[in-house]
Amino acid sequence: MRALILDAENRTANLKDVPRPAPQPNEILVKVETVSLNPIDPLYVAHPLASSGRIIGSDFAGMVAALGSSVPSNSLHVGDRVSGFLQGACSVNVRPGAFAEFLVVDWDLVWKVPEGVTLEDAAGVSLVALTAAQGMWYRLGLEAPFEYDKEKALEEHPEWVWNKPGQQNEHEALNFFIYGASTSVGLYAAQMVRLSAKKTGRTIKLIGAASKVRWDLLKSEPYGYDHLVDYRDQDWPERVRKLSDGGVQYAYDCISEGDSVVRVSSTLDRNGKSAIVRSRAGGAWKGESLLFEPIYGAVWEGLGAEIQYQGFTVKKSPAARAFAVKFYKWLSKEMGSQIKPNPIRLMPGGLEKVVEDGFKLLGTGSMDKRQMKRTEEWMKPVSAEKLVYKV
Ligand SMILES: NC(=O)c1ccc[n+]([C@@H]2O[C@H](COP(=O)([O-])OP(=O)(O)OC[C@H]3O[C@@H](n4cnc5c(N)ncnc54)[C@H](OP(=O)(O)O)[C@@H]3O)[C@@H](O)[C@H]2O)c1
Repeated sequence: MRALILDAENRTANLKDVPRPAPQPNEILVKVETVSLNPIDPLYVAHPLASSGRIIGSDFAGMVAALGSSVPSNSLHVGDRVSGFLQGACSVNVRPGAFAEFLVVDWDLVWKVPEGVTLEDAAGVSLVALTAAQGMWYRLGLEAPFEYDKEKALEEHPEWVWNKPGQQNEHEALNFFIYGASTSVGLYAAQMVRLSAKKTGRTIKLIGAASKVRWDLLKSEPYGYDHLVDYRDQDWPERVRKLSDGGVQYAYDCISEGDSVVRVSSTLDRNGKSAIVRSRAGGAWKGESLLFEPIYGAVWEGLGAEIQYQGFTVKKSPAARAFAVKFYKWLSKEMGSQIKPNPIRLMPGGLEKVVEDGFKLLGTGSMDKRQMKRTEEWMKPVSAEKLVYKV
């Protein structure tokens, strides 16, 4: 099969012929139809953690081509449309990626793509939607629209005291601030806050930070922001505090670099909590005097394996894996109805164009320093959309 293979020495990836993988008993073989890009895909090609020869890429959608011998007979069938994500070149230990004609994945770590959702749309969902679901529901503890084992999560994270039974909903009305509201992660986070509000009947005021050009989109369904600020205005933290009558109860920083974590933290009220997408240990941000240490987690925890990563190890987490399984089960029913896929940009060409075009667009530096000198229509800056390729 053809696959995009890391060349760590030259910090690039090339299309090569490699053997087609065979599923282990608990895995399925997927014929990949579409893939989407995440900022980490180009980042770990330009700054490799993996050795040359690794298949790169995370997000995929496609058709089940074969089932491992232990896959329950009432779960998936050959020909089913599924979507999920793999590690790609984003780990030191060997965990092959998705930018290939075929891949293998645990049968319960994919979601079945409902009728009416295209495989192009589905490719852009799995990694960022799980990231947002972990942030909103699993870590910050907003009420999820499905059941999962919260006790198991608390056993691994006793410090998440706010998730203990009886601790939720201590505020009458809630204010939730999402910094980087137009990021792919942020678009799902807003939908998830809305779903939590619907589930509990609570009023949640949603405040976001994004470029002004995205405000119309963000105020409309399914996001429904109540207020927006422009992150390029210096006084946005003060505005958020005013809009929330003194401080928000929850914040989610979908950028987490430079001074964003400190500034987002300054919008919290005394008992407020925040979650972030990049770690202090990874060096993306610094902050000495935070009111509350923001909760960091890596989406990889959902894959349920130990991951050697960026100078530290993401521990194997049975609780995060169990949450991911429940979330993907829920997506199998609700994607396209209760929750909408993010807007996508279908890029011309296939895997052979990913490095030349898609990686150039995403860049490998800080999120707001992406510059593009190319003039083709599909090479305009990325804003509130996923880049998708047909394989
Ligand atoms: N912890 C994890 O496991 C995990 C998982 C997934 C992603 N991430 C990280 O989360 C971040 C977001 O990923 P993504 O895929 O959602 O990104 P993305 O969709 O590529 O984000 C693009 C958006 O970023 C916004 N942006 C750029 N610089 C900004 C700034 N300084 N302040 C506010 N907004 C800014 C732009 O907004 P405008 O168009 O409005 O200007 C643009 O729409 C990345 O750093 C990624 O590596 C972490």
